[in-house]
Amino acid sequence: MRKVLFLKSSILGDYSQSNALVDFAIKNWEANHPNDKITLRDLNESKLPTLDSELVSILRPTDGIELSSRQKEALALSDSLIAELKAHDTLVIGTPLYNYNISSQLKNYFDLVCRAGETFKYTEKGPEGLLAINEALVLKATGGIYGENAVIDQFFNQILPFIGVKKVTIISAEGIAYGDEMMQSAIAGAKDKIEKYVG
Ligand SMILES: Cc1cc2nc3c(=O)[nH]c(=O)nc-3n(C[C@H](O)[C@H](O)[C@H](O)COP(=O)(O)O)c2cc1C
Repeated sequence: MRKVLFLKSSILGDYSQSNALVDFAIKNWEANHPNDKITLRDLNESKLPTLDSELVSILRPTDGIELSSRQKEALALSDSLIAELKAHDTLVIGTPLYNYNISSQLKNYFDLVCRAGETFKYTEKGPEGLLAINEALVLKATGGIYGENAVIDQFFNQILPFIGVKKVTIISAEGIAYGDEMMQSAIAGAKDKIEKYVG
């Protein structure tokens, strides 16, 4: 039985193409692997704080340090998000491309879960990921067409192994902004790949 954590990170709600791809993946997963445990987190609803000069100190061990109520709250949130990741072995991330980047919501998420001693550590041989996530599937929707030059692909291919994800696969629906026909064909192509991936 796999334990699969699905993350949505769009701000477009019902109009979101990446959210729709996540919903499609969940439907396939539930139909084909009914024994797997599925969790869904919508980061737009999680309202995660942005790291700033006050919150950055919670990323280091805080023993003996007097924390502000805002720091305590962010630390508890970071602990619970990391615990959630540790309770899963498979990750599916829906992601938009906004201004050549991931959404602020997803960035805030990674800023809270990338914690030394919890999800990664540095050794003499370099960084070592501490999560035991076997695979991550990234479902990406973009207005333009970038192919292998997609800047956020590099981000996922680096940050996910950094925290201990063994295998990363990216499925893209590109050209969402090129008109209805192009959008439909991009979505259909991505759904086809999702079906094959989920198995
Ligand atoms: C605020 C905003 C910024 C965007 N910036 C880009 C961009 O830099 N490059 C691009 O190709 N598309 C851009 N787009 C188009 C989105 O990538 C496209 O709408 C995609 O479907 C977003 O995923 P979502 O529908 O899951 O939110 C942008 C859309 C929005 C709303």
